[in-house]
Amino acid sequence: MSVTIKTAEEIESMRVACKLASEVLDFIEPHVQPGITTEELDRLCHDYMVNEQKTIPAPLNYAPPGYSPFPKSICTSVNHVVCHGVPAPRALKKGDIVNLDITVIKDGFHGDTSRMFMVGNEVSKQASRLCQITFECLWLGISRVRPGARLGDIGHVIQRHAETNGFSVVREFCGHGIGRKFHEDPQVLHYGKPGTGMELQPGMIFTIEPMVNAGRAAVSELADGWTIVTRDRTLSAQWEHTVVVTDDGYEVLTVSDGCPPPPALIGDIRGAA
Ligand code: MF3
Ligand code: CO
Ligand code: CO
Repeated sequence: MSVTIKTAEEIESMRVACKLASEVLDFIEPHVQPGITTEELDRLCHDYMVNEQKTIPAPLNYAPPGYSPFPKSICTSVNHVVCHGVPAPRALKKGDIVNLDITVIKDGFHGDTSRMFMVGNEVSKQASRLCQITFECLWLGISRVRPGARLGDIGHVIQRHAETNGFSVVREFCGHGIGRKFHEDPQVLHYGKPGTGMELQPGMIFTIEPMVNAGRAAVSELADGWTIVTRDRTLSAQWEHTVVVTDDGYEVLTVSDGCPPPPALIGDIRGAA
């Protein structure tokens, strides 16, 4: 496993790419309404990235070994879709929950972030609780990032928070190192044991992107070769940030004016520390 330590200059380039990725989500948020299709969301984001930002949508034609090229510019994962949902001519409806996952390339560097959106601002209590707990899982994971901590510390807090709340964590997909490449080492699992796994060092950059299911953890891949769904077809949620390990903790790189602030429980933890 070869984990790259980014230089100050590379970190600055990542700051730029990551902010742009977050700004795509700010841009698209008002469009996420009942009646719009996920294909229309893809088109709007694609045009914004290419024409306004002059960024490259990293998913378009992305083809890791064993995969066919991803046909669209963003991932749109609705309700029981866990991740890698392919935008389609299918309209969102009131009460849906949808993850929009954006990865842009700017000057050769990748920024990767995703958020949940509640369509029509009227979703079931279970759906909104799932989105909130998953958001807290992301931030609990982030809060463990500092030199000397281990990847298992991050996985552990995420798994514990999801499971204490009656949910389950997807095992087949994980966070990842990121930089000049979309997916680099290390793999950042969203479950695990404290004190295990790779030790974090300043200058490492990776994503944390927990996928949390309302029902069981098992997933299936659809015939399109990309879309991942919960095997029991219960709801799934995901949030993602790209972070850099700093000398005394972390810096979240995928930030912008419209990105949701950390949840209250993080303030509590920091206040207590
Ligand atoms: N953005 C996803 C991630 O967080 C990867 C999507 S790959 C794609 O790692 F090809 F589906 F876009
Ligand atoms: Co990612
Ligand atoms: Co992503």
